[in-house]
Amino acid sequence: MKNVFIETYGCQMNEYDSELIRSILTKENYAFVKNEFDADIVMLNTCAIRENAHRKIYGRVHALKHARRDNPPKIGILGCMATNLRTDLLEDRNLNIDFIAGPDSYKRLPELIEQCYALDVETPHRGVSTDKPFDVTLSEFETYSDVIPARTDGVNSWLAIMRGCNNFCTFCVVPYTRGRERSRSTENIVEEVKLLAAQGFKQVTLLGQNVNSYRHEQNDFAKLLEAVASVDGIERIRFTSPHPKDFPDSLLQVMARNKKVCKHIHLPLQAGNDRVLDMMNRTYTQKEFLDLVVKIRTLMPTISLTTDIIVGFPTETDAEFEDTYRVMKEVEFDSAFMFKYSERKNTIASRKFPDDVSDEVKTERIVCLNELQKEISHKKNQEHIGQVHELLIEQEQSIHNPNFSVGRTDGNKIVTFPANHHKRNEFILTRITVATPHGLKGEVLKDSSS
Ligand code: SAH
Ligand code: SF4
Ligand code: F3S
Repeated sequence: MKNVFIETYGCQMNEYDSELIRSILTKENYAFVKNEFDADIVMLNTCAIRENAHRKIYGRVHALKHARRDNPPKIGILGCMATNLRTDLLEDRNLNIDFIAGPDSYKRLPELIEQCYALDVETPHRGVSTDKPFDVTLSEFETYSDVIPARTDGVNSWLAIMRGCNNFCTFCVVPYTRGRERSRSTENIVEEVKLLAAQGFKQVTLLGQNVNSYRHEQNDFAKLLEAVASVDGIERIRFTSPHPKDFPDSLLQVMARNKKVCKHIHLPLQAGNDRVLDMMNRTYTQKEFLDLVVKIRTLMPTISLTTDIIVGFPTETDAEFEDTYRVMKEVEFDSAFMFKYSERKNTIASRKFPDDVSDEVKTERIVCLNELQKEISHKKNQEHIGQVHELLIEQEQSIHNPNFSVGRTDGNKIVTFPANHHKRNEFILTRITVATPHGLKGEVLKDSSS
């Protein structure tokens, strides 16, 4: 029996993949431990989306080596950096990684780990070499539909309905790290959702790099949502990340008429200027995006909208950046993730467009958007004061203040409220009393525990 510690970086898909890995390895006589010091094997499930994601991993590997210098564990790199940087990782003498597995190779992990121990016996004093076990092959078929993840959260259940991405936004490394789009069958997904309900989960979050381009035979994402919503016991359905290009009316109607589908859409804008959007290969214009927002809000007036923005894409001028600012001001997203453009190896942008906006300008632009968004988020949150919201409880005692519990609204907002023996994974009715730019506080209306 060997002890494994896994640390997860990046997006929800990686969180989900770590649960798959847990499931795969637990069946093969590996036990999972809660910290690196008890581990024979440390695996980092990595992200490659921006340069600082990379840097974090390099730093972490060095820190690990230092902390465990007397009794070094085997170190494995999994996830998106594995596919993106395989050769660099294997040849880096300082890192001295023991094995590497990309996102479509997790079923081979038991074999790769065994090979890694076998190498110790065969060539105990070998230096860094490319004979280390690795598999970063990308598959057109692997969906892990036959693996039930070992879920650890207890309130939210992640479920990947599709993997990979065919969009090739020019800045993005994901199509190269995760390969082509492929979807699981609707029946297979619904079976797993039934199992989740039987296990007591009330919320499922459907995942995909481009989740609303889901397609299996005659079923599109709208049909899948309806099928998942028909499962008794599941009360909340979320999904991430969708692409603005894949919102047909049928999908919006299914969302609008189905109470179980949470009224929150993460709608990545990226940029507000048409020339930049075109260079990014986002396939929509500013007007098309704005029209979609109007359509969504007409059908679902209470919907909360969040977004992702990239500032300083190659050649983006001040005037073009102003367009992003204006769109954000007009739409008033509930919250926004904002990033400085970071050139990624292998992407179309890295081959065609020099990264010519200075870091200073990128910083200025991001500061400017942050200020704007802070005001908007505050205003949006204040609109909730006095409203009654049903929360799904996530923390019985807040990690910041044990006198408070923490729950989430249908619109994906976090609300803290006075703790009173409330149970995780239960619903509670609250009235919102306080709003800050970052969150809400509420009072309990109907207290199931009293
Ligand atoms: N599949 C998701 C994107 C995942 S990456 C989607 O399409 O929404 C999350 C966010 O990271 C992206 O929306 C984008 O805003 C940002 N991002 C991706 N590549 C980036 C890069 N090279 N530099 C800066 N930000 C990037
Ligand atoms: Fe990347 Fe674009 Fe695919 Fe999202 S849709 S994963 S940003 S290529
Ligand atoms: Fe990162 Fe890969 Fe997710 S690059 S954001 S872990 S798909």
